[in-house]
Amino acid sequence: MFSKLSIRLGLLLFSILLVIEILLYAVLYVSLADERADEVIGQLLARGNTHRDVLEDHFDDVTLNHVVMMESASDFTVVVTDGRGGVLDRSGGVDPALLKDILHSDEETVPNAGRVLESGWRDHEFIVTDSPLTLEGRHSGHVYMLAPSSMIRETVGDMRRRFLSIGAFSVILTILVIPFLTRFITRPLIRMKRVTEQLASGNHPSGLDTSRSDELGDLARSIGKLSNDLERMREERNEFLASVAHELRTPITYIKGYADLASKTGTDCQSRKEYNVIIRDQAGHLNRLVGQLLDLARSDRQGFAVSLSSVSLSSLAESVLSLVGPAFHDKGVQLSCRIPDDLITELDAGRFQQVLLNLLDNALKHTPSGKEVTLEAVRAKKGLRITVMDEGEGIPEGDQSAVFERFYRVDKSRSRKSGGTGLGLAIVKEIVEAHGGTISAESRTGGGTVMKITLERRREDGANPARG
Ligand SMILES: Nc1ncnc2c1ncn2[C@@H]1O[C@H](COP(=O)(O)OP(=O)(O)O)[C@@H](O)[C@H]1O
Ligand SMILES: [Mg+2]
Repeated sequence: MFSKLSIRLGLLLFSILLVIEILLYAVLYVSLADERADEVIGQLLARGNTHRDVLEDHFDDVTLNHVVMMESASDFTVVVTDGRGGVLDRSGGVDPALLKDILHSDEETVPNAGRVLESGWRDHEFIVTDSPLTLEGRHSGHVYMLAPSSMIRETVGDMRRRFLSIGAFSVILTILVIPFLTRFITRPLIRMKRVTEQLASGNHPSGLDTSRSDELGDLARSIGKLSNDLERMREERNEFLASVAHELRTPITYIKGYADLASKTGTDCQSRKEYNVIIRDQAGHLNRLVGQLLDLARSDRQGFAVSLSSVSLSSLAESVLSLVGPAFHDKGVQLSCRIPDDLITELDAGRFQQVLLNLLDNALKHTPSGKEVTLEAVRAKKGLRITVMDEGEGIPEGDQSAVFERFYRVDKSRSRKSGGTGLGLAIVKEIVEAHGGTISAESRTGGGTVMKITLERRREDGANPARG
């Protein structure tokens, strides 16, 4: 029920709330306690001032006695002194040391409203106020009021007990509320976790709350999209595997069939030789197919890891032409190359050679003898454009983008007869895209195909006459 996340979140929330509560209560408690103490001290001073006023009105023994008698019945103590600092009367016993301290502070300059002599109720046994006595315009003594600090401590202690019980109550309340709070926060996350687990185990996730408008809704939508992508990839992979199996089965069927025929006892030498040629052809085809599949698998894993270096296009083309030249010559197809000497660009030479070989091979396959194939490269607005043009039968409009798909062939049986796997253009496309370029097939006016590669300019690109 509780995940690790909710426990951690709960502990975090609890400690934060606890700190806030303690801080708030402490501040509140201290300020309330001080307020309460100030109130008591203010009352004490007011009481002293009242006694002083009465004494100023009728300064005689009867009044003095009256004042002292009043205070002997209360928790307070009153000490009345004369103008010279001698004690006239007092309402109770006062610690001699304290009394000495008080009398020591006897002075004439005290304001008429009185003053607080000792307010430190936390450290001292008594708080003390002082109301000056003035008779006929002359300073004639003091009325000191003493209140035991325990009085304040008691009320404050009372308050503290109430604070502690309220504090304990709020901590308990916090503890009770936190599980709901954390569950509220973590529930969508936990659900998301469950959903991704379903994803990983290959099921379509259920219970995604994509209707939320917050970040969790965004996350849910992303996961939904991820799931659809995964589903599509799975389907594509299955389709691909089915095509691979199919493509592999054809040559294997041939090989097995002709091997059976060749090993039959009645087969004559001439036929056996023919069968062997077919078997060798099909084995070659199988070999090519497996090689290209490996190439594609590599490209799927990390994208074709192209290692770029500055390459002169004309010299790259030259090495390709020397490879395919004999085949063109044999078939009687003319091969012309128009590439400026100063075209230098950042390429993976080995990979790009593979691209040109594939395109020229296709062009040769689909061009009848007596016609021409042209390899051309020009500087374009944004970078480079490389084209391979032929005068063959062309690619129907509807197939022009499909020919770059794996195993796609316009004429399956013809392609297979000529050793085609249907993977060449798929690989070409991967390589070109790994270079940040694009490739498209177009019809050539007057018949034939134009394969057009566009490579975006990189910063280092440009003419380099010194090397051209
Ligand atoms: N220059 C071209 N002229 C006409 N058709 C072409 C040309 N290049 C490619 N194609 C068509 O595109 C298909 C895919 O090409 P590719 O991927 O190289 O496979 P293949 O192994 O058949 O050559 C070919 O089977 C062919 O039908
Ligand atoms: Mg090909």
